[in-house]
Amino acid sequence: MSKNYLVTGGAGFIGSHVVDLLLKNKKSVTVVDNLCTGRKKNIQLKNKKLKFVNCNIQNYSKRLESIFKNIDVVIHLAALADIVPSINHPEEYFQTNVNGTLNVLKASQENNIKKFVYAASASCYGIPDKFPTDENTKIKLEYPYALTKKMGEDLVLHWSKVYKLNVTSLRLFNVYGTRSRTSGAYGAVFGVFLAQKINNKPLTVVGDGKQTRDFIYVSDVAKAFYKASKYKKSGDIINIGSGKETTVDFIANFISKNNKIYLPKRPGEPDRSRANIIKAYKLLNWKPTIKIANGIQMLLDNINYWKNAPVWNKTKISKATKVWFKFLK
Ligand SMILES: NC(=O)c1ccc[n+]([C@@H]2O[C@H](COP(=O)([O-])OP(=O)(O)OC[C@H]3O[C@@H](n4cnc5c(N)ncnc54)[C@H](O)[C@@H]3O)[C@@H](O)[C@H]2O)c1
Repeated sequence: MSKNYLVTGGAGFIGSHVVDLLLKNKKSVTVVDNLCTGRKKNIQLKNKKLKFVNCNIQNYSKRLESIFKNIDVVIHLAALADIVPSINHPEEYFQTNVNGTLNVLKASQENNIKKFVYAASASCYGIPDKFPTDENTKIKLEYPYALTKKMGEDLVLHWSKVYKLNVTSLRLFNVYGTRSRTSGAYGAVFGVFLAQKINNKPLTVVGDGKQTRDFIYVSDVAKAFYKASKYKKSGDIINIGSGKETTVDFIANFISKNNKIYLPKRPGEPDRSRANIIKAYKLLNWKPTIKIANGIQMLLDNINYWKNAPVWNKTKISKATKVWFKFLK
């Protein structure tokens, strides 16, 4: 049985929940993270089974390689994960999400890792024409984040084919939950709304609010990673979502019904999102368990986490998305 896990990006939002679940299952966990968006306080630093290594995956080195010694399973989550800033800084996203993935793959291969699980993104489906969207849906890359995450996935699958590394790629839909990023970048809807709610500012709904997303709670996602880490076959791509659609307005109303404003819809983004999750059930015996209303309530119960997060307003958002509108119109 695999005992020694290495989680890149383990101090981040999803990574820290994966780490918690591994520790709960008595695994030894090495976290590799440069803390660019992650936080040490997200992980149980006092746990004797946890080792934290501050390391940047952008550069391959003997040091990086040596961290992977005696590791059985690698779960690779480290990435630049905010979508909007990728249009301004494509090369940085390439350095981390593509080169970084290559470096993590190389270090895994050099150390004869038994299993490699990649955090891919459902953004690769772009604006899909098939709902629910399954893994064979056409790839349409609309912006640099989606491109670099797909290039990372292609590298991972190629390493399975050529170097016989045992890999699984999980294509995550919209993950939400406690400890989601509070970095400076304009990011995912929940962090934006919660910081606005704490500060009694209007929630900024993009578009008419009727667009849907497939929101999946982070502890369910952590379970999917754990199951994938024990999945014997190599080379599968598996969607991880709730299989359900929720409108952005539903979320805004749940958080702050009478205090919201509407901003122009962003080009390049879908009106609907809904994962087909049959494959996850068939291959991993995985199913989501947290209903959206319960998930949002857990966030509201922990709202102080977003106390120091940036508070976005119409002017700041319009500045942060200017280049996006220029190129993706
Ligand atoms: N959150 C979502 O909805 C979602 C959806 C699809 C895919 N994903 C993918 O899941 C993964 C985790 O995303 P998240 O939402 O937890 O983001 P996050 O920013 O909270 O986590 C990313 C972690 O990677 C670390 N990191 C970034 N660059 C690094 C580098 N060069 N070297 C070492 N560590 C580095 C960060 O410090 C952070 O701890 C990412 O690969 C992301 O692309 C997330």
